[in-house]
Amino acid sequence: MSKKQIAVAVVGATGAVGEVLLRVLEQRQFPVSRLKPLASTRSVGKTVRFQGAEIGVEVACPEAFEGVDLVFFAATGGLSRELAPEAVKRGAVVIDKSSTWRMDKQVPLVVPEINSDALAKHRGIIANPNCTTTGLVMALEPIRRAAGLKSLVVTTLQAVSGSGTPGIEELEAQLAARQGGGAPPPPEVFGSPIACNVLPLCDAFMDDGYSTEERKLLDETRKILELPALDLAMTCVRVPVPVGHSATVLVETETRLSPDAAREALAAFPGIRVVDDPGSGAYPTAVDVEGSDEVLVGRVRKDYRSDRLWLWEVSDNLRKGAATNAVQIAEALLERGRSLSS
Ligand SMILES: NC(=O)c1ccc[n+]([C@@H]2O[C@H](COP(=O)([O-])OP(=O)(O)OC[C@H]3O[C@@H](n4cnc5c(N)ncnc54)[C@H](OP(=O)(O)O)[C@@H]3O)[C@@H](O)[C@H]2O)c1
Repeated sequence: MSKKQIAVAVVGATGAVGEVLLRVLEQRQFPVSRLKPLASTRSVGKTVRFQGAEIGVEVACPEAFEGVDLVFFAATGGLSRELAPEAVKRGAVVIDKSSTWRMDKQVPLVVPEINSDALAKHRGIIANPNCTTTGLVMALEPIRRAAGLKSLVVTTLQAVSGSGTPGIEELEAQLAARQGGGAPPPPEVFGSPIACNVLPLCDAFMDDGYSTEERKLLDETRKILELPALDLAMTCVRVPVPVGHSATVLVETETRLSPDAAREALAAFPGIRVVDDPGSGAYPTAVDVEGSDEVLVGRVRKDYRSDRLWLWEVSDNLRKGAATNAVQIAEALLERGRSLSS
């Protein structure tokens, strides 16, 4: 599609992802003709800043999508289920950040560096992966292209902002209480205190003992990489870090891949930066990646007992894990010359 100006709505514009999304649209100079920030009735009377203007937040409802070309959903799964079809009905394309549509066979689940071809099949709704999945598949795709993927063992260490603004506020309130010597407020977002703690649970437990986050990581990784039988074992862990999801990954490849060849493949992949120099103590951390769109990879090394490779991957969950990836999807639609209508 030609670079016409696009009327954009952001559902959840007052949330953690929505706020970053507005900054990413500005920074990447996405051609926005008109911005419509939408949220709940709690946000009536609030404004958001966009391109130097303060714009009033409106309540998300079907009629709000009239005349809108592109809608980013960054609110709740239930709202996406209810309102995304309403936006499509009114001629808009939806890029959804909730988990609602990700595993729907009719809905492409897209990380543009990996599978932007899947956009050709969209019927109005395009899903953005879970914030943990995005960083992981970014680190896996160059390895897959170099040597294939056979099996993976993954442990994630996920920031509190993965649970949105309430997650950040809960960590801050518990830290403040500890520093002030007062009683910490009871945990609400996370099941146990998160300040100065590590929780072996992200999201909620299911009957089989895994968490919903772990299941998303498994299903979404298989869908994006189009490897439905990929052997993936995982544990998702919440850590008291404001922003930046990390993961340690043990990769078994189809053909042998040396650490040097893996580093080379990773460094050549768009959106990845290798930070891996044990001699000078260089490795990626969550603090390094906050505010950045890059996925950082380091600690690439051969397993002692096999040809498997270890690696450590870090990405900003609010940017590449959410907002930036969504804007990249919109840019890919424009580049592919597809009309922003379903
Ligand atoms: N945080 C991450 O790292 C991340 C990464 C990938 C995907 N996601 C997904 O992105 C979405 C947003 O997450 P977040 O972290 O930004 O959450 P958040 O900080 O809690 O923000 C939620 C946003 O949704 C709005 N909202 C909630 N209920 C609504 C309703 N009934 N009607 C209209 N608006 C409503 C809120 O508006 P009010 O301010 O008016 O309440 C707020 O703007 C979620 O689906 C999440 O799973 C998050």
